[in-house]
Order: sequence, then structure tokens, then C-alpha cells
Amino acid sequence: MKVFLLFGLVALALAEVRRFEGEKVLRLKPVMDEHVVLIRELAASIEFDFWSPDSAEMVTIDIDVDIHVPAAYLDLVSTMLQQSDMETEVLIEDLQVSIDAQTGPTSRTHSHSYTNYNSWDEVQSWIAAISTSNSALISKQSIGSTYEGRPMTLLKLGKKSNVTKPAIFMDCGIHAREWISPAFCQWFVKEALSTYGSDSQMTSLLDQMDVYVLPVFNIDGYDYTHKSNRFWRKTRSRTSGTICRGTDPNRNFNASWCTTGSSRHPCSEVFCGSKVESEVEVRNVADFLRRNKADIKAYLTIHSYSQLVLFPYSYTYDLAADHSELLKVAEGASSALRSLYGTGYTSGPGAPTIYPAAGGSDDYAYDIGVKYSFTFELRDTGRYGFLLPASQIKPTCMETMLAIKYIAAHVQENL
Ligand code: ARG
Ligand code: ZN
Repeated sequence: MKVFLLFGLVALALAEVRRFEGEKVLRLKPVMDEHVVLIRELAASIEFDFWSPDSAEMVTIDIDVDIHVPAAYLDLVSTMLQQSDMETEVLIEDLQVSIDAQTGPTSRTHSHSYTNYNSWDEVQSWIAAISTSNSALISKQSIGSTYEGRPMTLLKLGKKSNVTKPAIFMDCGIHAREWISPAFCQWFVKEALSTYGSDSQMTSLLDQMDVYVLPVFNIDGYDYTHKSNRFWRKTRSRTSGTICRGTDPNRNFNASWCTTGSSRHPCSEVFCGSKVESEVEVRNVADFLRRNKADIKAYLTIHSYSQLVLFPYSYTYDLAADHSELLKVAEGASSALRSLYGTGYTSGPGAPTIYPAAGGSDDYAYDIGVKYSFTFELRDTGRYGFLLPASQIKPTCMETMLAIKYIAAHVQENL
């Protein structure tokens, strides 16, 4: 009996959700080299969680640096920042308060909802249900399993055809904590199914093309953000020789792997992995893209936050061969998005627009021949960051639909 009690307690302790009372998110505005050095030094001694950019390595002058500071270090960090004269602003006063606000009332039912952030279990049952709801337009296929053994199910939307159709591939949730991203993939599937037949563009798209949707790429990480640590970013794989878990899946693709904007240190948030495609999730997606590259005309990958439409390259400042066309399409997508609620997006190639970072899925897709390769960074610009309230899911998804449909129309015109 006692033994069972002990096991119970241990299990409880292990399963415990990390809480963030009193922890803050600060925005730092470095304008001098000394500021950048200070941020890097602080990051080296304290385990900050970088919200934007993704890690200390990417901090430069004149960009906003959003960091999550644990309560124990707040005094120290504030003192050092005051001494440095760097402009700072508190983005989030108390993270736990914001987390609770995002998750919604604890009484909420454990059933799928397009206007709430769904757990992996909810997404999984939704995948099963929706894929059998309309067999004329949707089917599912497995592309493999995650590190922890969860099934990666790809949804295929499009009118059934005897010949292989040209296709668009879209994934969500490469990074675990970016919850608005999987919410968008779910929204997209719902919209596609419910507007086929009434919306002329959607009808023509699904008649002519197939759209592959991977609702959650990094399922293990996503599940972990629901059950243990809301701010987990990477996969959950183990690397030998370290206790730090996880690789950044968006640094693990075979695109000038680990040369810039990523780290060889397994504890880094931008760890590129022990080798190219060390992550099974990355391998599964890359394999699918390779197998179907003759048919895949566009690759779309959805992240948050910052409100950006990015395209290759991120691993180099060199312009892509299709730069001017991609820029035109990205700008068109941004203005389509803006037309609904005025939400402002910036577009451009990854490296100059945010920072150089190799090993990304967009650059990989582009380099194997998928010309229309775009990374979206959805709402917001830092007010809530990863903790975008559920009340913003609907408006965010509605405006993003316009951008995605703009790109799809351009792809269709250029088949
Ligand atoms: N925030 C994203 C990331 O760092 C941006 C991705 C842009 N593309 C890229 N290949 N780095 O993963
Ligand atoms: Zn991301």
C-alpha cells in the first residue's frame, strides 16, 4: 500500500505542469553593440527563454528582443538593464495569468473546438472524425510516427481523381509552443470542406489540385506544451551525452544544415540536431516531399509570432532565383490578409527580413524544386506572443485564409 502511495506521488510529481507565477516577458531594444553583448552575457549566465528572436545567437542591434525571465532573476536582470540604459518594456506582467487566460475556463469541455486551442488528443479525434466525414473530398494517410510513437497523419483535400493532381503541402506546429499554428490548419480544413461548392475559388482549387495538410508536425512537443511546459519549442528526442532533450525541427532539414543561426549545443533552443534529419518527424516530412516533389507546387509552413510572410532564403543572403516573383506573391498575400481587419504583415526573404537560419523546411522545399515556398509567422507582434488569446483564433484564421487563398490562386494560374 505504502509503495503504491509512493509511486503515486512520484508519478504526480513527474506529471506536474510547470507554473509561471510572477514570471515576466520583457522586450529589450538594443541600439548599441554593448546592449547586444549584455543580452548575450545575461543569456549565458541565466537560462532565459527567448521568445523572439529564437536564441541569443540571433540578437543584433535594432531588433526587438523578447525574453521570458524567471521570477528568481527578475531583480538581477532589471538592475543590469537599468545600468545599461537600454530601452525595455514589460510585455507580459505575469505569465501564469496570461497562460490561464489563453487556456480559457478550466470547465471547458474536452471536445474539439475551432475557436479554442485543442490538445493533441482532441486534434487526433478530430482528424479521425473529419477524414471520414466527406470521403469525396478528404482522405488521410500516415507518413510515419513521431519519436514518442504518435501517428503523423496527413490529410489530403481535393476532389477525387484518377490521375495525380498537382498539389499544395501545408504543415502547422513545427514549433510546439506556437499554438495558433495548428489552430489554423484545423480551421483551413474546415473552411475548405464547408466552402467547396459555394466559394468559387475553393471549388476550383480543390477540383484542380490536392491540398495536403499536416495539422501538427511536432506532436510530441505540442503534447508536452499542454501537459508539462507551455513554452517548449523543440521535438522531445534524446541526444546521447546530454540530459537536454529536443532538436529544433526547423534547423534539422537538409538546407545548408547547421551553418548559421543554429547551434551544435543540445541545450540550445535552436539545436540543429546530431545530424541532418536526425529527427524522425523531419525525416517523415522530407521523405514525403521528396517522393512527391514532381506534383508539389507549393510548400506552406505556419509558425507564430511576428506577422511575417517569409520565403527563401534563410540560410544565405543570396537572392533566390525566383526572388522577384516570390516577393510579389508574398506582398499580394500580405495585402489580401490586411484587407480584412487591417493587420499589418511584413514580407521578404528570411535572412534579411528576420535573421539568417539554416536547416529550415522552406529552404529545403525550395531547393528540391518546390518554387512557391513560404513561411508564415501569424499574430501577434508580441503583446501576447505565444499566449495569443483564444478569442483571436477566429479573426487570425479568417485573415490568414485570404493570404493562403491568394497564394493558391497564383499557384493555380501558373500550373
Ligand atoms: N521563426 C522561424 C524559425 O526560426 C522562421 C523560419 C524562417 N525560415 C527559415 N528557414 N529559417 O524557425
Ligand atoms: Zn516557429
